[in-house]
Amino acid sequence: MKSITTLPVAVSLLSVALLVGCEGPQGPPGETTVVSLEGFAADIKCGDCHNPDVDSTYYVWAKKYQWELSKHYFGGDFERNSSSCAGCHTTEGFVERMQGKSVTNHVDASPPGCFACHSPHSRGDFSLRTKAPVVLTSAITGVPDQTFDFGKGNLCAECHKPRTLSPKMNANAPGDSMVITTSRWYPHYGVQSQMLMGTGGFQFPGYTYTGNSNHATNTVIKQEGCIACHMADASAGSGIAGGHTMNIEYENTSRQKAWLLNGCTVSGCHAAASFTINYIGSSSSLTGGVGTHTAVEAYLDTLFQLLGSKGWIETDPASSSFGLVKASSSKPLVVKPAVKAGVLFNYYFVEHDLSKGSHNTRYAVELLKSSIAELRKP
Ligand code: HEC
Ligand code: HEC
Ligand code: HEC
Ligand code: HEC
Ligand code: HEC
Repeated sequence: MKSITTLPVAVSLLSVALLVGCEGPQGPPGETTVVSLEGFAADIKCGDCHNPDVDSTYYVWAKKYQWELSKHYFGGDFERNSSSCAGCHTTEGFVERMQGKSVTNHVDASPPGCFACHSPHSRGDFSLRTKAPVVLTSAITGVPDQTFDFGKGNLCAECHKPRTLSPKMNANAPGDSMVITTSRWYPHYGVQSQMLMGTGGFQFPGYTYTGNSNHATNTVIKQEGCIACHMADASAGSGIAGGHTMNIEYENTSRQKAWLLNGCTVSGCHAAASFTINYIGSSSSLTGGVGTHTAVEAYLDTLFQLLGSKGWIETDPASSSFGLVKASSSKPLVVKPAVKAGVLFNYYFVEHDLSKGSHNTRYAVELLKSSIAELRKP
């Protein structure tokens, strides 16, 4: 039976909300101090979610504890709260963006939380705030934008999507030179959506790309998206991954790295007996038989050394710009022929995906192998 207890504090808040009006004051368009109160659904029972007893409807407390173990909660980057960052890095900015308002600065911002992905008060449930397909802007001249449509995963892609890049990667840049004027000339950190669907990398002319791994078209993943793997139910002893932690990697009780593979080994996908995080399936011929993570880490390492010896990226761990592009507005990096800037671009693209090839092994490995071959060409 659902509890219908209404906490006294909740009652007072409700009356405030009613006084303010359920829609919340909207203010004139363009005003920056808009209150984004989405109101309370009619007949909402506060106790359904704010339950001092055992909540077996939504397990809100459990979800809160899981979320507190996610990087959404502890990542710390919610101070990226200016209008150009807040739309992905804060709940306040994300809600504005989803409401179709322009994103404003939020000095007192909170990280992506319950009210970003859900709107429990206005809807009275935990349905996802959005499931609409997401346009992924292309950072490569001549390559069109793509639409990401992976069901529930579309919510994730609203933030785990690329940002604009200036200048765009352009193999036909004027004078056949890419002029790079910033040390952060790379795809931002949310490239997972592109990687999963197999778009966004730079493909060199004259090299054959054979497509994607199964994940890009798998029927379960097309409906569940990121959730299929990242929000699997945790099993005993692995309570610190899956669910609202959204982590796959965790530290086990012996303080060793472990991976929650419950999402991978569901029936119809991988056989549990032999499956590891370093799996290699049909892309084995591309990697000489080694596992996804081993292969991708080795190729990234090779590229890092090669790009370092070119003087394109900073490889000195003692430098404050370690790992960044060696370029600034006063000292631009000029890459000629322009097409070779695709190597730099792909290095960061695969690195920032962070899955070490798990999302789309074939796509990642072929981008890395072709990039290495291109840079080694005289
Ligand atoms: C469908 C679930 C749901 C219902 C129903 C619900 N809430 Fe909430 N509410 C939440 C969640 C989730 C949070 C954020 C997590 C938390 O603080 O527990 C929250 C947070 C709050 C907070 C804390 C806000 C803060 O800034 O710390 C108050 C106060 C609150 N709700 C009041 C109410 C009142 C009053 C009602 C009934 C009119 C109500 N809630 C009904 C889910 C719900
Ligand atoms: C409101 C924007 C937003 C949404 C929606 C969102 N994320 Fe995130 N996600 C972020 C941000 C921002 C970070 C980094 C947080 C930080 O560094 O402070 C992050 C971090 C993560 C991480 C940790 C990455 C690491 O480096 O360890 C995972 C995993 C993740 N998100 C998965 C998901 C999944 C799965 C979904 C969909 C269910 C999702 N995210 C939806 C913004 C979002
Ligand atoms: C389109 C959404 C989006 C926008 C806009 C955005 N970010 Fe991010 N950013 C992300 C996501 C998603 C992550 C987390 C990726 C991960 O950890 O997997 C992230 C991660 C980061 C990180 C952490 C990198 C690391 O190594 O842990 C920094 C720093 C950052 N963003 C800065 C900014 C700044 C500054 C702005 C505004 C100028 C900005 N971001 C705008 C989506 C966005
Ligand atoms: C980054 C996005 C994100 C954040 C933040 C988030 N959730 Fe969720 N939540 C999801 C997704 C995705 C699902 C899975 C929906 C599905 O499988 O249909 C979900 C499912 C749920 C469910 C189950 C809904 C049902 O009908 O069974 C509850 C309850 C819930 N979340 C509560 C919370 C609470 C409480 C918080 C804050 C502590 C929170 N969520 C934060 C994305 C998020
Ligand atoms: C087929 C399963 C699968 C799907 C679908 C999937 N991921 Fe992953 N993801 C993984 C695996 C496996 C890793 C690697 C985990 C590790 O090595 O710690 C990973 C890593 C990540 C990381 C880096 C986490 C970290 O701790 O460094 C982020 C962020 C991420 N995924 C986000 C997403 C987003 C966003 C989506 C949807 C666009 C998505 N993933 C779809 C399996 C998946």
